Amino acid sequence: MAQFNSSSLKKIGVFTSGGDAPGMNAAIRSVVRAAISSKLEIEAVLQGYKGMLKGEFAPLNLRSVANTIQRGGTFIKTGRSPEFHQPEQRQKAADHLRARGIQALVCIGGDGSFTGAHLLWKEQGIPYVGVPGTIDNDIYGTDVTIGFDTAVNTALEAIDRIRDTAASHDRLFIVEVMGRNSGFIALDVGLAGGAEAVFIPESPLPVEAVIDKIQAGVKGGKTSSILIAAEGQKPGRAYDLAESIRKKSGFEAKVCILGHIQRGGAPTAADRILGSRLGAHAVDLLHQGVCDVMAGVRNGQLINLDMSQCLAQRKVIPQGYLDLVDRLR
Ligand code: F6P
Repeated sequence: MAQFNSSSLKKIGVFTSGGDAPGMNAAIRSVVRAAISSKLEIEAVLQGYKGMLKGEFAPLNLRSVANTIQRGGTFIKTGRSPEFHQPEQRQKAADHLRARGIQALVCIGGDGSFTGAHLLWKEQGIPYVGVPGTIDNDIYGTDVTIGFDTAVNTALEAIDRIRDTAASHDRLFIVEVMGRNSGFIALDVGLAGGAEAVFIPESPLPVEAVIDKIQAGVKGGKTSSILIAAEGQKPGRAYDLAESIRKKSGFEAKVCILGHIQRGGAPTAADRILGSRLGAHAVDLLHQGVCDVMAGVRNGQLINLDMSQCLAQRKVIPQGYLDLVDRLR
């Protein structure tokens, strides 16, 4: 874990980066109020790294975060910033931060956002703590990321509705959920939604095997089925799966892509609590001079993990969930 001299720490910045996630506002609120209670000034860097590059900041106070804990999205905006891959852009960002008097950062986002902050520390010496905020839950070292619980529940609500119409029409459905490199949402939703099978990037399932499962279900008297597919690298892949199932078996599958619906909406209690705990924890770490770490939660306890370790390892999916989905179908 890296250390910096925090004895002269007066002002910190907070930003959200990458895809938004419900509960980010709760985390920002927590950062702001914890910072003020620790006698630190706090500013928002607007729109993530984009704002850092343009020099767009906004001072925050206790009232700036009033009535935000229950709101989805991120009120300080977010973005994806490919420019930040270039070292000279990171130099520019650091210059803007220094000119503004921001001495350390809380970065709320996923692994891409953490990589940017890690490089900013290594190259420019700007201390930071990362707070895991992504609906994908694909960050190593923390049991859960901010936004995951809400996204799962949002998707589940949709699947329950789809089940009504699937059952009424005796239909097969493929529901596509988010998760670019990971199947955490798909797995939780598959298990909680009583799906027949789950397609995830970490453990690819041959279409033939799924057809066998559907056929076995039909023989056993099943009249409707729901399959869950993580979008993976190709949003819309559920259409390809449906086509492949049709060609190989004759089964016609309806496709429903949940897409960005999963990213919006009021955060669940679990995400508000997680955001509140991690935001304050990140401020406390900076106050103690600890940086280049991720603030996370393991077995209910707050932890911090070296960012190099966090970025180097891949979070393992709960294989048991996949087996259970199959056993309970
Ligand atoms: O934030 C994570 C995520 O929602 C992924 O699940 C998804 O693949 C991606 O972001 C979509 O990103 P964008 O909103 O930029 O299209």
